[in-house]
Amino acid sequence: MRLLRSTAAECEAMAAAHAQAFAAGWREDEFEDLLEGEGIYGFLAADETGPLGVILCRVAAGEMEVLTLGVAPAARRRGVARALIAVALPAARDLAAEAAFLEVAIDNEPAIALYAALGFRKAGLRKAYYDRGPEGFMDALVMRLDLNAAAA
Ligand SMILES: CC(C)(COP(=O)(O)OP(=O)(O)OC[C@H]1O[C@@H](n2cnc3c(N)ncnc32)[C@H](O)[C@@H]1OP(=O)(O)O)[C@@H](O)C(=O)NCCC(=O)NCCS
Repeated sequence: MRLLRSTAAECEAMAAAHAQAFAAGWREDEFEDLLEGEGIYGFLAADETGPLGVILCRVAAGEMEVLTLGVAPAARRRGVARALIAVALPAARDLAAEAAFLEVAIDNEPAIALYAALGFRKAGLRKAYYDRGPEGFMDALVMRLDLNAAAA
């Protein structure tokens, strides 16, 4: 598996990975626009079969936020997400972030297990954060990692 720091050249593959991971994936031009934003960076995981996963983060005011993280279903439970976070955290430190945080739907057990395994801890709850259309609204858990204390 290769991990590539995202540039415009990776956006097509990032969109392809994202589309596999999420029902409503982000388009290539959305990734291009986001990557031009202040403090935004990402990584693409790929192998000889093609794109496997993607992470996009933003650092602002000393905090890194995970904007999105997704792995193609066929590539899950092989350490792809763990590897993407493992490169994203030092990159956040390089941009002077002291903590990382993210929101995750309270029913997303795989993602909560992943973040907990990597040292993220529950830091809050945002009620009715995700609009799931006819299914209604879903709360989000806010999870946080102290980058000064983390070993990664
Ligand atoms: C959540 C997600 C990114 C995990 O990606 P992944 O590449 O399969 O995760 P990894 O293989 O790196 O898993 C690392 C650890 O996370 C935990 N984990 C990951 N998936 C899990 C699952 N389905 N059930 C329980 N624990 C899980 C485990 O501790 C795992 O370590 P282990 O395999 O040694 O037990 C992936 O399932 C995904 O893309 N889901 C859909 C999109 C999504 O929900 N993104 C997160 C939004 S906040």
